[in-house]
Amino acid sequence: MELTLGIESKNEDTIVLEFEPPNSGLSSLRKLQKRTQRKSKKLESPSSTNLIKHSYHLELKQKLCSLNSSRDNNNSTTGYVLWQTTPFFIDWLLYHTDSNTQEQNFNLRAFVFSSNVIELGSGVSCVSTVILCNYLSNSNYYVVTDQKGILSTLKENIITNKHEIIHNAKQLKSVTMNWSKPLKESFASNNEEYSLPEEFFHIEVEPLDWEYVFSQKLPCFVEKALGDTYSRNCTILAMDVIYNDFLIKPFLNTLDTLFKKWESENDSSRLTKNDTQCEIKCEKKGIKAIMGLQLRAQDVVQDFLLEAVLEYEFNVQVLHSDYLNSSRFCFYVISPSTQ
Ligand SMILES: C[S@@+](CC[C@H](N)C(=O)[O-])C[C@H]1O[C@@H](n2cnc3c(N)ncnc32)[C@H](O)[C@@H]1O
Repeated sequence: MELTLGIESKNEDTIVLEFEPPNSGLSSLRKLQKRTQRKSKKLESPSSTNLIKHSYHLELKQKLCSLNSSRDNNNSTTGYVLWQTTPFFIDWLLYHTDSNTQEQNFNLRAFVFSSNVIELGSGVSCVSTVILCNYLSNSNYYVVTDQKGILSTLKENIITNKHEIIHNAKQLKSVTMNWSKPLKESFASNNEEYSLPEEFFHIEVEPLDWEYVFSQKLPCFVEKALGDTYSRNCTILAMDVIYNDFLIKPFLNTLDTLFKKWESENDSSRLTKNDTQCEIKCEKKGIKAIMGLQLRAQDVVQDFLLEAVLEYEFNVQVLHSDYLNSSRFCFYVISPSTQ
């Protein structure tokens, strides 16, 4: 691919991104700025997230010199910088009503917010991680993955921006980053119904290279996120990860492996009595991959879709809205043929 097409900033090693709801005085589009003063923020309870009014201010480090290196991360260097697909998707998911409407029995925002999330090929930026962790308070895991060489800067970015995770009612914890973040005192005292949580919400960072998924055991927290979903959904998030033909098969194999693992873990013959009662009472839960592709080369997108549908027999649904249709991105919801 034309290597720099779709990079958020080609000049700055530190990017500041603002996410603002519409009618907040600023445009709903993110403002890309040089370092600015942090605005004070008012805490709101998670119940107000039906209409998302929260804004976010992220400072992200990227490594432009590694992007152009032929040695770093075995010459797989696109993950060293922030690309436009993820911020565009998060802005749409949070602030556009059409991400929150029911289509063919499926509400994308509701599905993601009631999921454990596994992010594939996240790159160094932690935009989805930090922002979505605010809305997954009924879930237990956000597991963010990429190739090994990308992870130290990703961890640094999560730690720099973790103060932006303020709306999750659970105690936040990360074994892989060795931290535990207590609830904000003001949040706990202002929201009696969200009194101290018994469970932890994990934000974990793990290496997952699609080339080796067959030969290696899945990382520990990826497995946990897949095995912990009977009462919740599982979302696999993958933004701008298919940009050449070589990536298609390893990526689809990885999706297939994750879908099959989820299905075996959530096989109804293995359910406990409580799970079965939950199955009767609640809507049955599912696993779906939400993918965003930046439209660069039509043949790559076409090959990807053909292989996903014909070889892997996945269900592939295209997300449509006037806003999405007029962008340079295409978004898909992919699920196993059994769902
Ligand atoms: C264009 S970047 C997109 C990064 C990020 N999702 C974003 O939107 O900013 C593609 C990502 O796919 C990752 N990737 C490429 N090949 C991979 C592989 N074999 N296994 C895991 N991740 C891979 C890269 O490291 C990189 O983070």
